[in-house]
Amino acid sequence: MAPDLTKQVLTNTAETVLARRYYMKDAEGNPVETWETLCHRVANAIADVDKDSPNGENLREDFFNMIYRMDFLPNSPCLMNAGTDLGQLSACFVLPVEDSMDGIFTAIRNGALVHKTGGGTGYSFSRLRSKNASVRSTQGVASGPLSFAAVFDAATETIKQGGKRRGANMGVLRVDHPDIMDFITAKQDQNRFNNFNFSVAITDAFMKAVEDGTEYDLIEPSSKQVVRSLEAREVFEKIIDLAWHNGEPGVLFIDTANKANMTPQLGEFEATNPCGEQWLLPYESCNLGSINLANFVEKGKIDYDRLKTIVESATAFLDNVIDCNRFPIPEIEKMTLQTRKIGMGIMGLHDMLIQLGVPYGSEEGRETAGEVMRFIRDVAAAQSEKVAAVKGPFPAYDAKVNTYPARRNAALTSIQPTGTVSMIADCASGCEPYFSIVMVKNVMDGDRLIMVNKHFERIARAEGFYSDELMSKVADSGTVIGHKEIPAKWQEVFRTAQDIRPEDHIAMQGALQNNGVDSSISKTINLPNSASREEVKLSYITGYQLGCKGLTVYRDGSRDSQVLNTKDTS
Ligand code: CDP
Repeated sequence: MAPDLTKQVLTNTAETVLARRYYMKDAEGNPVETWETLCHRVANAIADVDKDSPNGENLREDFFNMIYRMDFLPNSPCLMNAGTDLGQLSACFVLPVEDSMDGIFTAIRNGALVHKTGGGTGYSFSRLRSKNASVRSTQGVASGPLSFAAVFDAATETIKQGGKRRGANMGVLRVDHPDIMDFITAKQDQNRFNNFNFSVAITDAFMKAVEDGTEYDLIEPSSKQVVRSLEAREVFEKIIDLAWHNGEPGVLFIDTANKANMTPQLGEFEATNPCGEQWLLPYESCNLGSINLANFVEKGKIDYDRLKTIVESATAFLDNVIDCNRFPIPEIEKMTLQTRKIGMGIMGLHDMLIQLGVPYGSEEGRETAGEVMRFIRDVAAAQSEKVAAVKGPFPAYDAKVNTYPARRNAALTSIQPTGTVSMIADCASGCEPYFSIVMVKNVMDGDRLIMVNKHFERIARAEGFYSDELMSKVADSGTVIGHKEIPAKWQEVFRTAQDIRPEDHIAMQGALQNNGVDSSISKTINLPNSASREEVKLSYITGYQLGCKGLTVYRDGSRDSQVLNTKDTS
């Protein structure tokens, strides 16, 4: 297809974000790039891996076009660092924490090196002996995972990720670790562990004990001995109570994740990256990127032909990233090159559904999302197999153990939050619905600046129901529901995260997970402020039963500071 030479129009938000954090700067700190030159820098650096192949020049152009037009955007570290001296291009890392002083402080050092380059780290503290367990060398007692986690937190606070990105961590503890109750309650105090998301790794045995109303065993990691038993339901209720209070801890279904481990011969999953979408083995890293589904609706239909072309290029792109990546430490380089995992995700799912006129929370919405995700996964898998035929499968691939076809990448898909790249692309983030349709900003002198979702404005004007008065009313009520001027169909299509029923959020996560997501999904199950603990419990149980690999719930208004507000009055 001929390259589209139309100039890409960026929103003011995109320009601000890019100028502040993505464009390269001169010595005075002024940006020396534009969106166009940034895209050339990134495309050239990644296409250079194939510069000697007959297809080399085409790749350069394909990569440039798909990024420039925002059909696909790689994760932030790639946009920031490709073609620069830093050259670290991955967003996620999992580092092991061994049960020794040396092991713990090695992990802190390695994490610091990762954060410096813009990556986020996941740690499992499950191998650490519990608080008060004995320490042979000093004849003393151990401090336990939580006191060490505080040191990781303090180190992150000090580094602040090279100025571009604050360090982000995931901290995981298995539900059968003796210190689990301390871990569950650790973030009750909202001033502690602010550089961490905490998630409890929930096992199948624990869920069975919850179902049966029995006790389950706590196992001391250093001795592998059962030290105590707890009532599973009591522990579950505590997790639910705290998640109801302020959204933490999250849960990770660790056995579900390990059943889908494509290289069990190398080890088990213990943790994910900070936002939970990527399960990785110790020392693995993964580079991510997202297909912008907002760009693939033509005349009310999904343009699958163009989607296929872009997914093929994006798969080739993410695979090449591995070959020109500068890894922070040799252990990460070694593991990553063994499995060559990539994480292709989506953003703008809600934009796509809006353009199709399909409500996000409907059965049709889930079917459409599942169909698109499955298509992306199948195309990526076929492309990965094709690349394997030329460049070889990922080195750890072992046909005797791994029963799937030889391919270049041990993992292909995961759905990321796309916190910043979706701002650049001006679409709904990841697989989330829009958070608001009309927002009001109180500006100087009491003026109200009304910001209307671009799709809603287009449709409202085309169908003749746009008025400043209506927009103001929608902003004040925080929802399109119940305004008689808005046709019923559009009230359904423009339901936001808060208007969509929790069970429909979970059903969407399940539909995506079961239709082509290899790794996991970063998604929030939004609950109204009035939701009960029973509803939170139901969310967890349903998520587990649907085969989700983790779940994050958030009850509106339950945190002191909420990042996104329906009514932004700043
Ligand atoms: O949109 P962007 O590429 O900036 O990132 P994202 O999709 O919001 O987050 C993807 C992953 O990047 C997260 O799961 C983390 O592993 C990592 N991340 C991080 O380390 N620090 C941040 N401040 C944000 C994201």
